[in-house]
Amino acid sequence: MQDKVVIVTGAFGALGRVVATSLARRGARLALVDASGTVPDALASEFVAHLLLPGIDLANHEATQAMVAQVVARYGALDAVVNIAGGFRWETVADGDPATWDTLFTMNLKTALHVCKASLPHLLDREGARIVNIGAGAAAKAAAGMGAYAASKAGVLRLTEALAEETKDRGLTVNAVLPGIIDTPANRRDMPQADFSRWVAPEALADVVAFLLSDAARAITGAGIPVMGRI
Ligand SMILES: NC(=O)c1ccc[n+]([C@@H]2O[C@H](COP(=O)([O-])OP(=O)(O)OC[C@H]3O[C@@H](n4cnc5c(N)ncnc54)[C@H](OP(=O)(O)O)[C@@H]3O)[C@@H](O)[C@H]2O)c1
Repeated sequence: MQDKVVIVTGAFGALGRVVATSLARRGARLALVDASGTVPDALASEFVAHLLLPGIDLANHEATQAMVAQVVARYGALDAVVNIAGGFRWETVADGDPATWDTLFTMNLKTALHVCKASLPHLLDREGARIVNIGAGAAAKAAAGMGAYAASKAGVLRLTEALAEETKDRGLTVNAVLPGIIDTPANRRDMPQADFSRWVAPEALADVVAFLLSDAARAITGAGIPVMGRI
């Protein structure tokens, strides 16, 4: 990863921060992008040598294009994108609001689509270029209350497959990582009785992301890789 320029979206969130730390340790030059308008102090000091881009709404295509242009202006190139920005809602079909489906499609799928589309002109025909999208295990099968979320993450996987097919002769690989429940502070708060040791550690996911970004993964494109821990 030495000196590779990598955009990480959702970088101020639980998984994003761990992925950012992991990639920085491997020598990448990072652009850390998030909707949150303030950079947490710990993040500002850890990533002082990198580009921090708070307050970027990736649901907005023009704002996303401007963000990518800013990254390329700062670093002179772009090698990879890791789309982590997203979110979750639990509600059943019977009791839920149909608008939640729009919300989650925007939050999980449109954000990834916009970043992929804005980044493509810089990634095509660039040796070793990579896109890694974060889907979810629920992309394969929804559980109760997970319809909107699972559909949006299935969309992320379909986006990944389509883009991989469209770019496989252009030196770019496009893959998705499909996590199970991640061991985050929010999940521990929401599910205090669970056995956290069965969940997937963000550091383990970061290792999978780093692998997909590496030369070792050059023959993999269009894959959706389940990373479920022991669930
Ligand atoms: N946590 C899990 O168990 C789990 C399991 C499977 C998959 N995933 C997926 O893994 C990813 C990271 O999860 P996480 O637990 O780290 O979530 P998180 O802590 O909530 O982090 C997600 C980050 O994405 C940002 N974001 C949301 N919408 C955005 C937008 N329109 N533009 C820019 N940034 C936006 C959020 O900013 P704001 O907070 O300011 O909105 C937040 O900082 C998500 O895609 C999630 O769906 C998570």
